[in-house]
Amino acid sequence: MYSKKVIEYFTKPKNVGEIQKADAQVTEGSLACGDMVNLYLRIDPKTKVIKDIKFKSYGCAANIATTSIMTEMAKGKTIDQAKKMQFSDVTKALGGLPPMKIHCSVLAIDALKAAIRNYEEKHGIAKPEDINESILRSRLRHVMDPGIGKDIVTVGIVQDVKFDAKSGIVSLMLRLPNTHQFYDNILHEIDERIGFIPGIKKIDKKFIE
Ligand code: FES
Repeated sequence: MYSKKVIEYFTKPKNVGEIQKADAQVTEGSLACGDMVNLYLRIDPKTKVIKDIKFKSYGCAANIATTSIMTEMAKGKTIDQAKKMQFSDVTKALGGLPPMKIHCSVLAIDALKAAIRNYEEKHGIAKPEDINESILRSRLRHVMDPGIGKDIVTVGIVQDVKFDAKSGIVSLMLRLPNTHQFYDNILHEIDERIGFIPGIKKIDKKFIE
C-alpha cells in the first residue's frame, strides 16, 4: 500500500534525533490517531534560514516517512518559505500516500508550523493576524486534565474557541465545574499556554453546565 519512497524514508529516516538547546522545540499530536511528533529547529538569527531540523516520531510508518522528507525539504529554507509548505507537498514528494494516511502528513506539517510559530513568539516576531482558532485549539491540546490523563480539548472541557483579532480577546466556552478536582490548575495552565501569545490581550472564560 506504500510507495517505494515511503518505504525508503520509513526504513532509513533522515534527521532523526534531538537538537540540544534548539531555537524552537514543539510536541504536536494528531487528533485523528493520537500519535505524536517532537520537532527541533536551529535557525540562523540573521537570515532566518533553518540551519538544522531534527525529529522524533511516535507515529506510524507514514508519519515517520512524511516527517523525515519534510525535514529535508524545510532545511535551507527561510522560515517564511517553510511556512508556505503544505502537507500535499510532502505526500507528492513521497509518490503519494493511501487516503487513510493523509492525516500523518498533516501532523508533520503542523509540527513544522508550530515550531516556526514557537520561534517567532519567543523572538517577538509573531504577527497577531496569524493567530486563529485552530492555532489556539492546538495550544489548548497541550493542557491536560490530570484526573483523566487526556487533554482538555479531547475530553470536551473546551467547548468553543473564538478569537477577535481587533480587540485581541480570546473567548473560551468551558465545560468545567468549579467543583472539578483540578479546576484551578487547568485555568492556570490555559493562561500559561495562550496568555503569552503576542496579540492576545485578554482571555474571556465562560462556563457552561
Ligand atoms: Fe497516527 Fe499515522 S496513524 S501518525
